[in-house]
Amino acid sequence: MAIAACVRQIVTKPMQQGRIGVRHEVAWMAQTLRGYSAPVAAAERLTRSGLKSDAIPASNAERMGLAALATSATSAGICRRRVGRRYNTVATATATLEAPTEILRKDYQQPSFFIREVTLTVRIFDGRTEVASRMLLEKNTGGSLPLDGEDLKLKKVLLCGKELKEGEGYTLEKEKLIISADALEAGDSTDLWLETEVEIEPEKNTQLSGLYFSGSMYCTQMEAEGFRRFTYYLDRPDVMAKFTSVRLEADESKCPILLSNGNRIDSGKLEEGRHFAVWSDPFAKPSYLFAVVAGDLASIQDKFITKSGREVHLEIFAAKEDKDQLWHAMRSLQNSMKWDEERFGLEYDLDIYNIVAVKDFNMGAMENKSLNVFNTSLTLAREDTATDDDYERIEGVIGHEYFHNWTGNRVTCRDWFQLTLKEGLTVYRDQEFSADMGSRARKRIEDVRILRAAQFPEDNGPMSHPIRPEKYAAIDNFYTATVYNKGAEVIRMYETLLGRDGFRKGMDLYFERHDGNAVTCDDFRSAMQDANGRDLSQFERWYLQAGTPTVTATDAWDAETGTYSLTLKQTVPDTPGQMDKLPMQIPVRVGLLDRESGKELMRDTVLELCEESKTFELKLDETPSGRPVPSLLRGFSAPVKLEYDYSDEDLSLLAGFDTDSFNRWESMQRLGSKAVLDAFKTEDIDSFQPDATFMDAMKRIVQDKVTDDLSLIAYALILPTESTLMQQAKPPIDPTRLHEARNRVRKVIATELEDDMRKRYDELTPKDDEKYVIDGPSSSQRRLRNVLLAYLCTSGGDAKAAELCGKHFKTAKGMTDKLAAFSCLCNIPDSQEAKEAIEQFLADANGDANVIDKWFASQARADVDDLLPRVKKLMEHPEFSLKNPNRLRSVVSVFISSPQFHLPDGSGYDFALEMIPKVDALNPQVAARMANGAFRTWRLLDEKRQKMILDRLADLSKAGLSKDAAEIVSKMQA
Ligand code: BES
Ligand code: ZN
Repeated sequence: MAIAACVRQIVTKPMQQGRIGVRHEVAWMAQTLRGYSAPVAAAERLTRSGLKSDAIPASNAERMGLAALATSATSAGICRRRVGRRYNTVATATATLEAPTEILRKDYQQPSFFIREVTLTVRIFDGRTEVASRMLLEKNTGGSLPLDGEDLKLKKVLLCGKELKEGEGYTLEKEKLIISADALEAGDSTDLWLETEVEIEPEKNTQLSGLYFSGSMYCTQMEAEGFRRFTYYLDRPDVMAKFTSVRLEADESKCPILLSNGNRIDSGKLEEGRHFAVWSDPFAKPSYLFAVVAGDLASIQDKFITKSGREVHLEIFAAKEDKDQLWHAMRSLQNSMKWDEERFGLEYDLDIYNIVAVKDFNMGAMENKSLNVFNTSLTLAREDTATDDDYERIEGVIGHEYFHNWTGNRVTCRDWFQLTLKEGLTVYRDQEFSADMGSRARKRIEDVRILRAAQFPEDNGPMSHPIRPEKYAAIDNFYTATVYNKGAEVIRMYETLLGRDGFRKGMDLYFERHDGNAVTCDDFRSAMQDANGRDLSQFERWYLQAGTPTVTATDAWDAETGTYSLTLKQTVPDTPGQMDKLPMQIPVRVGLLDRESGKELMRDTVLELCEESKTFELKLDETPSGRPVPSLLRGFSAPVKLEYDYSDEDLSLLAGFDTDSFNRWESMQRLGSKAVLDAFKTEDIDSFQPDATFMDAMKRIVQDKVTDDLSLIAYALILPTESTLMQQAKPPIDPTRLHEARNRVRKVIATELEDDMRKRYDELTPKDDEKYVIDGPSSSQRRLRNVLLAYLCTSGGDAKAAELCGKHFKTAKGMTDKLAAFSCLCNIPDSQEAKEAIEQFLADANGDANVIDKWFASQARADVDDLLPRVKKLMEHPEFSLKNPNRLRSVVSVFISSPQFHLPDGSGYDFALEMIPKVDALNPQVAARMANGAFRTWRLLDEKRQKMILDRLADLSKAGLSKDAAEIVSKMQA
């Protein structure tokens, strides 16, 4: 088994990179399965997740410090209280668990006051930090002023210089400081200054939200609601203030670098070895874009001259030992700045742009105004530490955060329900940037692979939500593949419907109308509509309705009149809480090919499907030899599932001749899916043979010497991910069997095409004296060679694979090749070559955390039968830590996404049950994502696994989880 499966790593590589960030986190999850209405009766679920009177053992309540709460629980059933940040549920009778309180989109209300100006003083000491704030208020709707605050020690409140006392002027609740209406009325109405002083403990902040300490530095993460963990504030994006003076003070030897947003306007020495710096940001901004960094950092510097001739100082900071890994990030930043000027006419607006790389970070990166904070895994790159994919990903994320300066910062969100306004649009922009920097065709394939593996499952599971959600308990749970990746597809559809120029006109109008404001998705749609004189009211349904629509195509060919007609029908599935949906506005890009010659009979045409069903008569540019072959949904023109009854021959023709490179790839994916799902259905998987048409098409691709972008050949050889296949198979699904089916198809391909593959592999092998170059063509060459390596490992026995991979590993000149070989070797961990490589890889890492993460991740996703004990052993390694999100993800999240997670005896699920509360106690955001990744697909699984997962979910709902994790666990059971 180990050998048969040796390849998975590389072959599904873009899906499996052990990395962070919204999109990647979800991408790992996608390796497992996804939800689907399954035959578990609602009543059955209720009893399973329902609580009996003794559901919470005393010891549990005690451990949570809940003794008092437990005894005060009423006979009504449930008593839920907040204890610190945790929700604890105590039941006294049979009842389902109550979900954490939800906030609704329709309940939006303006703030009672605005904050127009802020002055902050931040004094960092060992173990505690003082934050003093002075805010200029402006009455809006008036009344009392409820400021947000969490884990803050309040020292003082002053209004217009006069100290307020608790109960007289303000009241203090668990997470609110409420300034009374009376006090505010009595204050100076033209100059309403409110001052507070609080103390916080960044060293104890393991949630990594607010101000926290990470290794050699203090840093902040304020999005979405971290600012309230820093000081009392109206912590909501529609309150935009000028931070006119941010004074930072710290010990100079420990924190020689002191950074915040905007420009440094003052600095100097203080007593006792301390020093200070004062920063001022001329742009009004919401609190989530505020940032502070203080530490002992090294940096590299360069500049950018904007199109209007202004010079911008660029500086990238990191821990001293990482300084030599920053240049790729710098070049990426310069490329991003140039691209946004050229493509969207958007220029940078300040004199400084700083980026800081930190090693403990929940997400990928953050767009704080002029002071981006990045996870080191998305900043540092050297050819021996980062793969080609890492290099591209870094460029894309640097672009993403830079592009937010206009789409997010200058124009921000009115409330967090509008998140896709900035994230969907900015993902679209970073995708376009990467397409222009590298290969557009390849980028489209990669983005659709991610969408299908991560977002389709989400849209079809218990967490399904529209790109603009209607409600949430913890907003952190909604940084999802739907908001991001489907959100980007929705933006792309505007471009498809309006054309490149029309889209640009809409963007220009959007900035003209809303620069400096906090707005909504409707405002964006109106700008697109008004700039183009188009009615886009139906298009709003993409923001309202969850679920992936299915478009079914049928066609008719009248040979006599030469008329080809295409009928498109759409259905939008029911999703939790949403039934009976209305038809969407769907752009379907199509072309037609001649069945004999493969020649294009009709150029690219965009059909607009706005009804449930519509028939289009298509005009052919040329006379066909017979019934044409349709090329449908070219370039993946809408985030839908397209169904058409293609024959294998049709698909093979499209794979070879379609002018649309995306659909050439897509046709191979359809053939590949069919092969794996056929294998899945046969009784004896081990003797399954795919159809000859598919095998011939694969052979043609291995031998293809015409396509010069070798990445396209590589992707054509890669079978759909297991996550995508889960979507296509009919539930109930045994994921272990699906994994075996996919491996079987891979093995047949590798065995039958071994000679061709080996020949091509050898041709692509660099000469001894060839330099390792990082550019598009070289990385495409490596991609194809590494895909072939993975196949070749499956064709013979372990010994042959070990020899081939061992050699590949030893001769690798850069991380891409080294990791490709290492991942394969991890699937045969008992071979001598693997044992040596495991030692060597770690030794070569030389303490580099990103490389060590790769070492962990490759082993944690190995295709071996005893993966779970191996993972547990990895967690005993001195380099392992639960506290560092990257390290945690590289072992635990990676395992949870592997087929081995679904072990028939449920031991994988037990492992998740054990890990989630442990992680939750340290870092709720990371725990919530882990729970989502582990269990969201349960409804697709076979009955036995469904039962096991439901039992674990019921246990988890009694574990006193954080709001973040509780929301996921509760939605999972609904
Ligand atoms: N604004 C987000 C970062 C963020 C997300 C902060 C959630 C707090 C909570 C940032 O712009 C972002 O989207 N980062 C992505 C990477 C990006 C390339 C999609 C991330 O961190 O995954
Ligand atoms: Zn973003």
